[in-house]
Amino acid sequence: MNTINEVKKQEEYIEKIKELNTGKNLKYHILTMGCQLNENDSEKLCGMLENMGYLKTDNFQEADLNLFNTCCVRENAEDKLFGKLGELKRVKEEKGTIIAIGGCMMQEKHITDKIKESYPFVDILFGTHTLYRFPEDLYKALIEKKKQEDILDIDGEIYEGLPIKRDSNIKASVTIMNGCNNFCTYCIVPYVRGRERSREPKEIIKEVEELAKQGYKEITLLGQNVNSYLRVEKEKGKPFEAYEGVNSFATLLRAINKIEGIERIRFVSPHPKDFTDDVIEAIRDCDKVCKLIHLPLQSGNTKVLKEMNRRYTKEQYLNLVDKMKAQIPNLTLSTDIIVGFPGETEEEFEDTLDVVRKVKFEQVYMFIYSRRVGTPGDKMENQIPEDIKHNRFDRLKALVESQIEENNQKYVGTIQKVLVEGTSKNNENMLTGRTDSNKVVIFEGDKHLINQMIELEIVSEHMWYLKGSVYDGSKK
Ligand code: 5AD
Ligand code: SF4
Repeated sequence: MNTINEVKKQEEYIEKIKELNTGKNLKYHILTMGCQLNENDSEKLCGMLENMGYLKTDNFQEADLNLFNTCCVRENAEDKLFGKLGELKRVKEEKGTIIAIGGCMMQEKHITDKIKESYPFVDILFGTHTLYRFPEDLYKALIEKKKQEDILDIDGEIYEGLPIKRDSNIKASVTIMNGCNNFCTYCIVPYVRGRERSREPKEIIKEVEELAKQGYKEITLLGQNVNSYLRVEKEKGKPFEAYEGVNSFATLLRAINKIEGIERIRFVSPHPKDFTDDVIEAIRDCDKVCKLIHLPLQSGNTKVLKEMNRRYTKEQYLNLVDKMKAQIPNLTLSTDIIVGFPGETEEEFEDTLDVVRKVKFEQVYMFIYSRRVGTPGDKMENQIPEDIKHNRFDRLKALVESQIEENNQKYVGTIQKVLVEGTSKNNENMLTGRTDSNKVVIFEGDKHLINQMIELEIVSEHMWYLKGSVYDGSKK
């Protein structure tokens, strides 16, 4: 069955469940773990569920359906899932809530085996390649009252046109590609998300145009390796339509930059090894592309990078940063770093600190290396003891925090363009927004400013946010 017919079939299941649910006032709870790609998948699951007549609740105990969208990049997500399932056992016994678990963790056999053995009350297990089929799985679980296991080991197709219920009406994520071909030796993603495959340019452009019409101002393009968008298709001679001249990541940025109504474009994550000049030029030329670029470092040591299969050296990373800084005015950088990769010596870790000192990142996402079953890293000798990993993590964190404090000072007294996102969580009388460099700014202002791009003067800095006041233009 082709993908269009398959989506139609799922729409029919949605309708059937809607009929079953009529007048029942049913609720669902969803717990999403992991990255923005998973959040985007969850928005699709929420779209399906709301079309079936379920209403969202934040209280898992009152939900008629409890859904988990799992991540397996690091170990702590597993502990969280099993903890939550333990809590749900009683709810299941008392109330009979349907429990469905999907996402990356379900592509790992040792996890699904454990669920089937230790948590036999779970109703539905579905994987990353079968998310689109959730309506059918749910229908069968409801009607046949039988457990459903719907996990495929082959790369899924790209299914266009699934319903979606977005979390925000200001910022939207758009997945541009699925899967990853890089096989970094610590990473489980290529095993659970399959090989790289890109969406058709036309589908992406149409989605962004539609979002612009709906009033969205900021778009984040998502993929495990966004700057190799369409690369595999070109290498393998797989046909695609170069709609609006889009035949690469750089041309995609340029095409989206032209879409009226969209004011900001972000993307995560690019890979340093694929950061070609055409991408740097597109970022420089496109006024809507934010100048905060996420450039995952992982380690600052060439030997560790080789062991990680990252395919760049410390020097190549630093040269790339210099080149980008020279070509893109006002460039800021964020990054991901793993500490305690197998075999990492004290000196090798010092190289990571050295790169952090040199680059002065705007933001650093820090991770303690976590062994993932099935990855080459898990089989490496010289795993680093927990106390050393934690010690390195703490030292990196201290350095990063001191840099953030120093960097924050630079904002005070400047005028920043801010996209206003809503009222502040901690103070209803204040508004909150973000700068181009993704810094949170809190300020006093009228609610009509929400979803507008405005200028703020930064008046003070605090570790994780800045304070601003609406700028009246007098400094110009
Ligand atoms: N252990 C720790 N961190 C990891 N990441 C990916 N795999 C692992 C792992 N096994 C981090 C990387 C990646 C980010 C999304 O998660 O830094 O860029
Ligand atoms: Fe994992 Fe590396 Fe692929 Fe990123 S590029 S998803 S870290 S294998």
